[in-house]
Formats: sequence, structure tokens, C-alpha cells
Amino acid sequence: MSDNIPQFEVLPQHIGFIMDGNGRWAKERGLERSAGHKEGAKVFRRIGEYCADVGIKYLTFYAFSTENWNRPKKEVLALMNLFKEYLREGDTRTGENTIRQMRLRFIGEREGLPKDLLKLIEKAERETAHYEKMTVNIALNYGGRAEITHAVKDIAQMVKDGKMDVSDITEQTICDNIYTAGQPDPDIIVRPSGEYRLSNFLPWQSAYSEFWFSNVLWPDFTEEHVNEILRDYQKRNRRFGGV
Ligand code: IPE
Ligand code: IPE
Ligand code: MG
Repeated sequence: MSDNIPQFEVLPQHIGFIMDGNGRWAKERGLERSAGHKEGAKVFRRIGEYCADVGIKYLTFYAFSTENWNRPKKEVLALMNLFKEYLREGDTRTGENTIRQMRLRFIGEREGLPKDLLKLIEKAERETAHYEKMTVNIALNYGGRAEITHAVKDIAQMVKDGKMDVSDITEQTICDNIYTAGQPDPDIIVRPSGEYRLSNFLPWQSAYSEFWFSNVLWPDFTEEHVNEILRDYQKRNRRFGGV
């Protein structure tokens, strides 16, 4: 557990992190891009654990987008290997997850992922399914538009099968048929690396999210940035269309 955890009056229930800037971090040091991803993976663990200790209930980390397959084969392979490595360390981390009662969920397309990675994903989800203290979503092979397209197809199929009427379709129907069904929407989405875009991350869920941008590159992201985000969040006045 981290020492000196500050107290906050209002905590976001759900934070989304777009883990960006690994490549530039490596380039600045004359290293291969994969070295940036490796460092980024360490930061992912640290930040996840810190947020758990602060008391955040839901986290979503963007790890690999449906568009990231367009990267050089070597980089994609290095990323897939990192995901496997993270999950293979399951035993030691199960210890960590047990302490913090973290439930791991993977959101995104399962199709197209290497078989051995899929097995590890299913195992991690199974073994942490009973934890209720917090949920950590890892968006892997995730694309927001693909997510909504799947939901539309599933709903259309239910109508076709006579399980529901077109007039029964509400916003809640969409919420119930996307990967994050049953979870609160992200209160705040964090994007480091100086980019000001969502890049297909949670487009439906972010309708009323706050945003936090910074030039820091993900491998340089620290607990103090989390504190800054939480301090900043105290001052946000969320009106949801009201006055
Ligand atoms: C984010 O870092 C990690 C993934 C997209 C997998 P990048 O690899 O996009 O880093 P930059 O944006 O090139 O610096
Ligand atoms: C978004 O970062 C995806 C992840 C962080 C996993 P990208 O680096 O792929 O986004 P763009 O290409 O800059 O929009
Ligand atoms: Mg990037």
C-alpha cells in the first residue's frame, strides 16, 4: 500500500486512462519503441494499484486499439508479448489483486487475438471474477465504434427473434449491450502525451465525462499526476445539462 494517500472530498467513481506516449518516450532516449511499452506496462501497474489505494472503484486502461494492428509487425508482437507477460505473472499479481480485491475485465474484440493470450485473459477474468472492491477494465483490441456496432447487431437480432419490440429500444438498451454493461460511465478521461483526442476510446460512455490532458508521456506518469487529477476533479462543476 502506498503511504501518504491524500483524502479527497469527492472521488470520481470511474477513471479512464489513455496510455499514450510510450513510443515518443523511447525515441527521446534512443531506444526501440518496445522499450517504451515495457516501461508503460510498469506504470500501468503502479497507477492501477495507487488508484485502488485511493479508493477509485472503476478504472479503464486503453492498452491496444483496433487501429493499432496497423503498426509494424514487430511492435504489435512486442505488445502482445507484454500483455502475456503481465497475465503470466498472475501468481504474484494474484497476491496484489487479492490485497486490493481487483476484478480484471478485458473489453474489446476477442477475435483476432493470439490463442494463448486469450486463454490467459479468460483465466485472469475467471480468477478475479469474485472481487467486488474494484473493477479494472483493460481495453485490448478495443474500438468504440466496433463496440457500438456489436451492440446494434445484438439488439437487431433480439428484435428479429421476437424477444423485444423496436419501440422497447432505449438508451439503456445500448448501455446494457456494450462491454461496460452494469458499470458507471467514466467521470473523467485522462490523456497524456499532448494529444487532444479520444482515438475511439469509450465514445458512448464518455458523453458527459470530464477530460484531463497533459504533455507528460505515459511512462513518466506518476502517482502525483493522479493526485493532480483528483484535486482538479474537486473543482469541476458537472451540470449534465442542468443549471
Ligand atoms: C501508446 O503509446 C501505446 C499504444 C498505443 C499501444 P504509443 O505507442 O502510441 O506512443 P506514441 O504515441 O507513439 O508516442
Ligand atoms: C490510442 O493511442 C490507443 C492507445 C493508447 C492504446 P494511439 O497512439 O493509437 O492514438 P492516435 O493514433 O495518436 O490517435
Ligand atoms: Mg500514440
